[in-house]
Order: sequence, then C-alpha cells, then structure tokens
Amino acid sequence: MTTGKLTSQEIIAMNREYTFFSWSVQNQTVPIPMVKAEGIYFWDADGKRYLDFSSQLMNMNIGHQHPKVIKAIQDQAATLAFAHPGVATIPRGLLGKKLAEVTPGNLKKTFFALGGAEANENAIKIARFYTGRNKILARYRSYHGATHGAIALTGDYRRLPVEPTMPGAVHFLDPYCYRCPFGWTIETCHRECINHVEEIIGYEGPDKIAAIIMEGVTGSNGLLVPPDDYWPRIRQICDKYGILLISDEVMSGWGRTGQWFAVDNWGVTPDIITTAKGITSGYVPLGAVIVTDKIADFFEDKMLWAGLTYNGHPLACATAVATIEVYEEDGLLENARKVGKHLGQQLEAIKAKHPSVGDVRYIGLFSALEIVKNRKTKEPIDPLTAVQKVLRAEGLFTFNFHNILFVVPPLCITEMQLDEGLAIIDKALGVTDAMVEG
Ligand SMILES: Cc1ncc(COP(=O)(O)O)c(C=O)c1O
Repeated sequence: MTTGKLTSQEIIAMNREYTFFSWSVQNQTVPIPMVKAEGIYFWDADGKRYLDFSSQLMNMNIGHQHPKVIKAIQDQAATLAFAHPGVATIPRGLLGKKLAEVTPGNLKKTFFALGGAEANENAIKIARFYTGRNKILARYRSYHGATHGAIALTGDYRRLPVEPTMPGAVHFLDPYCYRCPFGWTIETCHRECINHVEEIIGYEGPDKIAAIIMEGVTGSNGLLVPPDDYWPRIRQICDKYGILLISDEVMSGWGRTGQWFAVDNWGVTPDIITTAKGITSGYVPLGAVIVTDKIADFFEDKMLWAGLTYNGHPLACATAVATIEVYEEDGLLENARKVGKHLGQQLEAIKAKHPSVGDVRYIGLFSALEIVKNRKTKEPIDPLTAVQKVLRAEGLFTFNFHNILFVVPPLCITEMQLDEGLAIIDKALGVTDAMVEG
C-alpha cells in the first residue's frame, strides 16, 4: 500500500537515512511508519491499527487529533503564528492566567519553554537566583531531560555517558517500596527514604542547597508511587532548611494521576512546578516553569537571566489553552480516576494470574507492571523484546523501561477499550511466564 507517493518501506528508509532517532543505536531502529491517528488509536502506512497504550511518549493525554485543539491550532496559525518573546499576546496571557488557576496554592507566574528539559533548565536557574545557593538534590531513579543541566539532575543511566555535566547536582535514594533500597518491607518500613534525605542535606550543607527536585510520581524509571506521607514530609524538610521544592510534573501532570498534578494527590504545594508533555497533549511543543507569587515578586526588581526565542510562542500557548479546556469539558480527570480504578483492579488480576508479574503499580491512568523471573528473588526479565514483539504484532503500542512495562493510555479511554489492550498484554505475558525460574 502507498501513502501519498511513498510506501511504508520508503518512509522508513528516508527517515533512517537522513534523520537520527533518539536514544538508539541507529542501525537497530525499527520505527513504525505512522501516518494517521484518532482518539486512542493510530495507523501505520500499511493500514495496520495500533492501540496507543503509552499515549505516544506519555504526553497525548487527551488522545490523538482532538477536533477542538486542531481547530485552535488552525485558528491561531491563521491569526498570529509567531510573536517576539518580548511582546504581549492574548494566548500567552490567557494561558498564564489559566496555569495560575489549575496549579495548587500560591503558584502563580509562568516562564514558558519548549519542553520538559528546557523547563527544568530554567527552574534550576530560577532556584539558584532566588536562593543564592548552588546545589540541587534529585533522586537516582529519575529522568529530568537530556540537556546539560537536566541530565545532571537525572539519576538514571542516561546521565553517565554524557558526564561531566552541570556541577552541583547531588542524588539521593528513592521511595521504591517493591525494592526498598534500605531493605525494609511495607510492614517494617519507617521511612528511611525520608530520613536519608535530611541526612544528605546535613552532609551537603543546607545553606548550599537551592532546591530539591522530584518527579510528582516517578515515571519512566518505574512508576514509583511514593507513600502518602512522602511529599508532605519532604515539603516540611524543605521549609525547615529554606530549600525550594520543585515538582517535575512533565509526565505526572495534566490529569495523568487523576488530578491536575501528582502533588495534588497529597495536598502539597511545591515552590516550582515544571511541566510540558500534557500541557498541549503534545500537539505543539511547550514547556512551563510555574513559580509561587513570592518567587515571582523576587524578579520584579531583579533581572531574570533567562530567555528563548520561542518563549511564550503564540501557537503553543493557544494550543495549551484549548487542551486545558478539553481536560475540563471532556471530564478527563474524572475519567482518569474512574477508569483508573478499573485499571488497578485489572492489573491486580493480571498479577494474580501471571507468575512473571512481580509487582503492579498504578495511580489514575499512570501504571506499570514489573516483570521478573522469580517473585522471591525479584530478578528482572530484561530486555522485554519478546513481549514487545507480541504486543506489536497484536497491534498494541507501549513503552517499557528495562523490565517495567507501562500502561499509560490517553485519558479519554473507556473501560472496554482498556480491557481490549489488557487482553493483548495478558496474551504477551505468556512469553515471560515461560521464562519464570524457581
Ligand atoms: C519527568 C520528566 N521530566 C523531564 C522530561 C524531559 O522532557 P522533554 O523530553 O520534553 O525535554 C521528561 C521526558 O520524558 C520526563 O518524563
């Protein structure tokens, strides 16, 4: 079958010959030649349909090709496609005001960037200017972006090949209850993961630390939902030492957990929220750094040493305004909570059935299955290439990080559609069940 004048083979060949694919050894890439999409589905150039169980890259929260957002993009492009970052525009103002409304507490003023990494770069600068301190604490099981500063904050293996990175990043251990780094179980836990942060602050010097940055709920590093007192207690520690608290809501924001932002689940107001992805549902690139009124006031009579040609891009801001309206009008946060409850029940049933599923973790429509060879030793099955092969053949598209398989569908998904995808995962897990030892 041809698409326009190009066959699927020609699309792939041209992409591979002339463009780099990220995080890949180039000759190992096997890209799907994607040509159209709608709602929770997309199609390749041969007409094969895929159920999108990772919302592309955990960003298309409203689903593909929502007519309201497409129209907003078309209208804005026809009116004012671009404006100098120093001029005032209607979409930029409207979006800033809307962000002040949907973010918690006294978070008020936004610096716009182009994506998550850039948002974090600028949050680092703002935190350093505001506190006059240098160090930033972040967690090991984290991803904050691929640019120089954001990758320094990133705790996972993607930092190592590009070191040395930005100085001043210090890492601490995670609330990873399935594999507690301190050796506790749920029953014996006494929150060593929180006490440990305060101990590190002591060693690093509280007056040297500008901020602690954490993902609202850890995304790509394993969908780690913290215990209920984790965020509130880290907030208290930050207050005690005058350290700013930054919630990276690039992946966990925008209804993904059933709330606007993951921190809303625990009633915590960070000093800074960084976000991207779901703010426009990926339709147009946009990142945002939203700060409290107090931090905003600081820059009233001091220079904000930050800038981007595309800061406050009208097309991106108009897209975000329409996207936020879709979250509200289509009741997507409510749907994430409702279908999320069903998802949790179904994942528990899958775990009960499949010996290769060591753990399932979920909050809203943000979830993952951890695949192991042996439930006692918790030895991972990694890579999940054989599982991905079955999923792709059966028309299910999703993301895995080592042995962790994600179920992160668009928030407009119904229970029936969700079950359709989970049935494919159920089938694919036959492959890993056969690898179980002991
Ligand atoms: C939590 C988190 N922060 C930051 C980023 C970086 O965002 P971007 O890829 O838009 O630069 C990501 C990307 O996946 C992310 O998940």
